[in-house]
Amino acid sequence: MEKAYQVMPDIEVLPSHFPVPGAGFLPVNAYILKAKEPVLIDTGMGIDSEEFMKSLEAVIDPQDLRWVWITHDDADHIGSLQKILEAAPNARLAAFSLAVLRMSTAWPVPMDRVHWLNPGDSINVGDRKLTAVRPPLFDNPTTIAVIDDKSKAFFSADCFGAIIPWPAQSIDDVAEVDLAQSMVGWASLDSPWVHMVTPNEFNKGLDRIRQFAPKAIFSAHLPPAIGKSEQFLEVLATVPLSTPNIAPNQTALEQILAQEKGE
Ligand SMILES: [Fe+2]
Ligand SMILES: [Fe+2]
Repeated sequence: MEKAYQVMPDIEVLPSHFPVPGAGFLPVNAYILKAKEPVLIDTGMGIDSEEFMKSLEAVIDPQDLRWVWITHDDADHIGSLQKILEAAPNARLAAFSLAVLRMSTAWPVPMDRVHWLNPGDSINVGDRKLTAVRPPLFDNPTTIAVIDDKSKAFFSADCFGAIIPWPAQSIDDVAEVDLAQSMVGWASLDSPWVHMVTPNEFNKGLDRIRQFAPKAIFSAHLPPAIGKSEQFLEVLATVPLSTPNIAPNQTALEQILAQEKGE
């Protein structure tokens, strides 16, 4: 887990990177939106939990949080959720209904603090409206990405992710060609259904994002990116017809383990 830093005047990122053996690093970001009613978007990986809480507390007193927005209930997004709900008694949990119900099979989610959102629904956080949208790519049916109508930022959940060669604070630290390739590779691996979708249908999903004209793409799995939306949408447009990304198999794992042992 790295130190939190500011990416827009009222937005901070809580960044981490998960090492993917033989491939690079998957950024894992949560975001703090310093709205009139402050919002935490996602809660990192469980393995980082202690550091995540410290990193969060360096930016905001958890008592001041009014919302915790979970983009979906995958482990890399809800790692510190229970701890945060305890440390932030004034915060409500904004999430898709099925995410809350699925989490309830693992721990008692306080239902009286929950706010259920479907794609298209909004919450008012004092100085702005946050709208839930289904991103063009997702790996979990409970995914609700966030459009902030004040900053014009798009918090895109797993969409626009990439495994990058080294931990980077800015996408400018990653070569553009490599980045496009990595984004396509991640999209294919994380949302394999995209290869069953016609480019025409898929483009409608991209156009829905285009309509918002996001000034920034704040993905959970990419360094924060400002002013790159159109470029990134064009990269994603190539995904349905790209060669499906095949995940490493047992032979690859044995090679990785042998390399790590220095054989
Ligand atoms: Fe996910
Ligand atoms: Fe994720």
